Amino acid sequence: MILWLILFGMFQLLQATNICTYHCEYPTPRYVNCSNAFLTNIPNCVQTSVLFINLENNDISFLDDDVFQINHLLKIETLNLAHNAIRIIRTNAFRGLNNLQRLDLTGNELTNLDRNLFSYLQKITWLSLEDNKLLVLPREECFLNIETLITLYLSNTNISELYKATFECMPNLENIYLNNNNLHTIDVDVFSKIVLNSQNSFGIASLQKLRNLDLSGNPWKCDCDLHLIANKYNLPGKEDVLLCALPDHTLRSVNELMCYRSSNSLMNSTSDSDSDHTKAAFVLGIVIGALSASCAFILVAVLVHFIRKCWDRMSHRTRHQEYENID
Ligand SMILES: *[C@@H]1O[C@H](CO)[C@@H](O)[C@H](O)[C@H]1NC(C)=O
Ligand SMILES: *[C@@H]1O[C@H](CO)[C@@H](O)[C@H](O)[C@H]1NC(C)=O
Ligand SMILES: *[C@@H]1O[C@H](CO)[C@@H](O)[C@H](O)[C@H]1NC(C)=O
Repeated sequence: MILWLILFGMFQLLQATNICTYHCEYPTPRYVNCSNAFLTNIPNCVQTSVLFINLENNDISFLDDDVFQINHLLKIETLNLAHNAIRIIRTNAFRGLNNLQRLDLTGNELTNLDRNLFSYLQKITWLSLEDNKLLVLPREECFLNIETLITLYLSNTNISELYKATFECMPNLENIYLNNNNLHTIDVDVFSKIVLNSQNSFGIASLQKLRNLDLSGNPWKCDCDLHLIANKYNLPGKEDVLLCALPDHTLRSVNELMCYRSSNSLMNSTSDSDSDHTKAAFVLGIVIGALSASCAFILVAVLVHFIRKCWDRMSHRTRHQEYENID
């Protein structure tokens, strides 16, 4: 009996360490690779010196409150949870991860996220939510409250609408990936909006830094706003990739389509296409001006010539008559 208890105890001990010794590799003391290990929980025996933990391709479905704190993983800077089955993340799951900079949640089963879920991550700059099922974004409030975020992947998340408030609480975003979603239209205000900042003074705080915006692979309905956005931001391969779904179900590049400007203030932007258009209009103006000036000149010349000829003929005739009279 005692022997059995000892054996059982040893087995339990082995089980506890097992996750790390058998399934996790330490290519370097700072990096632990626990991918493809059939884990259903965050491992509890990773060395606390680790800065990068790779938990890709496991069966983790739930992140409980303080799960990283409990497992002594507070130093980590990069956390890869891609391709698990995460469906639920408790509000305080990420508490204590004050150094985390990159969080990969690609390929999970996330639907609606609490906007303050990532607020404990004071240094996070990179977040991927690609390949999830984020069905609806909140309409009136911002989507995620992460002031430090620079890069956000929302590709293939079945997003069908963006709202003016969506990116309001992520003013430092430089790269947004929204490719392969279900977007039809977009409002320029989504990406450039004057917001009331936390000090209660007005400031142009929202997305001043946006540089890369991937909107490809969406069933766009082309309009001037889309045209403007396509030309204002650096869309990767925008001519070929940003295709518009036409009523006859064909696809055309957004830049092939004519955009009729209204006197709408939204059209007052300093985008390249705008200055190109102004330049083209200027050149066209000069050409038309020159053409009409030369037409007028020729007309006047012809007229002068004709009048002169008439005058000559008339004076010739009168002189002739005078001679006849003299005769
Ligand atoms: C992590 O380990 C898996 C196999 O367990 C391997 O396929 C993968 O290449 C490793 N990744 C890195 C970055 O070492
Ligand atoms: C994506 O969203 C649309 C509605 O916008 C819905 O009809 C469709 O079923 C969703 N697709 C998936 C895979 O959830
Ligand atoms: C564009 O906006 C600026 C101020 O933002 C204004 O000074 C300028 O007159 C506007 N131009 C046109 C053509 O509306």
